[in-house]
Amino acid sequence: DMGGHDTYMHKEISEQADAVDRVLRGRIDDRFSTVHLGGLNLDAREARGVRRIKILGCGTSYHAGQIGAQLIEELARIPADAEPASEFRYRNPVVDPDTLYVAVSQSGETYDVLAAVQELKRKGARVLGVVNVVGSAIAREADGGTYVHAGPEVCVVSTKCFTNTVVAFALLALHLGRIRDLSVADGKRIIDGLRRLPAQITEILENEDEIKKLAAEYADAKSMMFIGRVRGYPVAREASLKLKEVSYIHAEAYPASELKHGPLALIEPAMPTVAIVPDDDLLEKNRAAMEEIKARSGRILAVAHQVQEKADHTIVVPKNENELDPILMGIPLQLFAYHTALAMGRDIDKPRNLAKSVTVE
Ligand code: M6R
Repeated sequence: DMGGHDTYMHKEISEQADAVDRVLRGRIDDRFSTVHLGGLNLDAREARGVRRIKILGCGTSYHAGQIGAQLIEELARIPADAEPASEFRYRNPVVDPDTLYVAVSQSGETYDVLAAVQELKRKGARVLGVVNVVGSAIAREADGGTYVHAGPEVCVVSTKCFTNTVVAFALLALHLGRIRDLSVADGKRIIDGLRRLPAQITEILENEDEIKKLAAEYADAKSMMFIGRVRGYPVAREASLKLKEVSYIHAEAYPASELKHGPLALIEPAMPTVAIVPDDDLLEKNRAAMEEIKARSGRILAVAHQVQEKADHTIVVPKNENELDPILMGIPLQLFAYHTALAMGRDIDKPRNLAKSVTVE
């Protein structure tokens, strides 16, 4: 049942305020400015002993894991990174007993992620799952974890599950942070930010008509560049994946700082750039990157917290705490990809060559 929407993608994008509300519900502990995650199976002593966190996933779940790794480093100060599960499996990784492994998956059935979990467990590592589908293979195989509570996601193109997975990582990062060195004040600041998310998501989605017009404006592009820095970079990668899988327009994502090391050669009017420009300590650096693009007659669509003069167009999104900004900045670009694909007559819920869950190697 699409509940009045023409596609599941549109329905699922529209459900995100409720979905985020669900992943937060019942978990916030205001007394200690932390969160409770019932199924982690990791007591405080064990959590304090974690020296590194390695996050494994594929596609959109991998991108959510990249933001998750940044949140964990920022809030819990535990070194963390994300890697495609398929790469990890095939490079004979060093499995370290002080590393906590986190497997991320919407379906909980992605073969490369499941196989990585099984290999890690065979070697005695501790593996948590950040999974949407309750009782799925990865959820069962993991030692513990947290459900993402996005609700069923039918469209092959993942949207609401991405957002909820990142929020689930924010909860995990806050929980680990408050067991370690994150202050009460910072814990409270993040909790307040998390509580603002559903209303801010609604605000973003109310801009759909404007985003639809912008999609028409850029629909002649043969290829698009997505750029961001640090918090904005995984957002750029995910937005680039969304556009290519649903519209079949070629897109690639780069850290803004890498442009001058090669990809600037591609910039011309037929190759527009989408720039993720949060109002944080990298704002000036991002403005400089936009200036470099303008100097080569590139068109720019910015996603930012205020109108960007260097850009041709700006989608303004509400500001949250710096750490939580990536959760919101990708949402308008889901709609951007959707409207681009719709105008091109694409099979939105079932893009060619793709399957909802990849249960083969
Ligand atoms: O079910 P999973 O989250 O494990 O799936 C991983 C990827 O196959 C998935 O995110 C894929 O990249 C989507 N088509 C993205 O929209």
